[in-house]
Amino acid sequence: MNILLLGSGGREHALAWKIAQSPRVDKLYIAPGNAGTAQAGENVDIPATDFAALKVFALERSIDMIVVGPEDPLVRGIYDEFRNDIATRHIAVIGPSANGARLEGSKEFAKEFMLRHGIPTARHLSVSAETLDEGLAFLETLQAPYVLKADGLCAGKGVLILPTLDEAKRELREMLGGMFGQASATVVIEEYLSGIECSVFVLTDGEHYKVLPVAKDYKRVGEGDTGLNTGGMGSVTPVPFADDEFMRKVRERIIEPTIRGLREEEIVYKGFIFLGLMNVAGDPMVIEYNVRMGDPETESVMLRLQSDLVDLLEGVCREDLHRRTMILDPRTAACVMLVSGGYPGKYEKGFPITGFNLAEATDSVLFHAGTAVKDGRIVTNGGRVIAVCSYGDTKEEALAKSYRVADMLCFEGKYFRRDIGFDL
Ligand code: AMP
Ligand code: GLY
Repeated sequence: MNILLLGSGGREHALAWKIAQSPRVDKLYIAPGNAGTAQAGENVDIPATDFAALKVFALERSIDMIVVGPEDPLVRGIYDEFRNDIATRHIAVIGPSANGARLEGSKEFAKEFMLRHGIPTARHLSVSAETLDEGLAFLETLQAPYVLKADGLCAGKGVLILPTLDEAKRELREMLGGMFGQASATVVIEEYLSGIECSVFVLTDGEHYKVLPVAKDYKRVGEGDTGLNTGGMGSVTPVPFADDEFMRKVRERIIEPTIRGLREEEIVYKGFIFLGLMNVAGDPMVIEYNVRMGDPETESVMLRLQSDLVDLLEGVCREDLHRRTMILDPRTAACVMLVSGGYPGKYEKGFPITGFNLAEATDSVLFHAGTAVKDGRIVTNGGRVIAVCSYGDTKEEALAKSYRVADMLCFEGKYFRRDIGFDL
């Protein structure tokens, strides 16, 4: 089978690494990919949202399956684009239809969906400029801190958590006034949930589902979860509090009603569902839906998936996922992200990365997040640069291995958090 994987980050390198291990794969292409994905398959210089060019390429190279890494192509309707064209409808696209991708593309839609299907989530009110006064009144009924979410996609920046009512009111006006452009023309005001978060990944064929390893990611740039939000500074799986009892609640209260709800509403969804959950005193509540895998959770999750990922994906296309087996590695996997100095603010690119030869002698796995090849050398090419992933019998052992390799790799301005997993 020929597979085309879309995206260019650490998540995509991890998916490419796993897909390339499958005996079912004849040829793996990654569009556009990075210097790491080029080691697992062949990079193709096409943006993940250029559907016209992707179609031409997919037909030329007899692609059988497209695996979509990031949300953008899904929200823009890549599934429907391939499905509705007679020339490309035989090509399986792993991911939801544009309708299904609204679970991530519109926070308002996601909240209304959860309300319709009785899925536990924070109390909310959705407001626009016309209903600002209702929004201000709703804020008065809540307790600090206050959560404001831009309705549309904001590259992970659309959520504000404000400590005082005055700030919340001011920011609500700013958001509705165009702080995030059209994405914040509608704002979801939400009750604050306190607890500890985890990421649950579900693969569904629209009827059956499998739950991948549960992970926790670390989003803030500073140790102790301080400082600015980033794309993610590290991840750990498994998550000790996500035990059998917790996961039973997740399945019964969240996963099954979600899949049933999608079917009832005739929303086509064959792909990954990423549940951002808060554990509120032992009860899971949904913070957000994403319609793809997480980054950097995928980097550690793929280490723990022993079964053939392509077999599972084929189960999604053929709608017989219940007949496929998913075997997980019982060990812990931990990922530490090496980032460019200055990230998530301004940073420079193009610095050579050294130490790959030392890292190769260890049993850690490196996934490239933001790298490129320049004059035959691998150089930094993004904020997040390399994800160092390792196995261990304990979280401490896995992290110690990743930190050892994190110290071996060098580039100007390299930074990483030394406290990944501190709260588990
Ligand atoms: P998101 O961009 O939706 O991932 O939200 C960013 C982060 O904001 C989440 O990972 C949570 O840490 C936090 N957050 C979002 N909604 C809530 C909420 N209702 N209560 C507490 N924290 C929240
Ligand atoms: N790690 C969170 C995300 O991928 O959105």
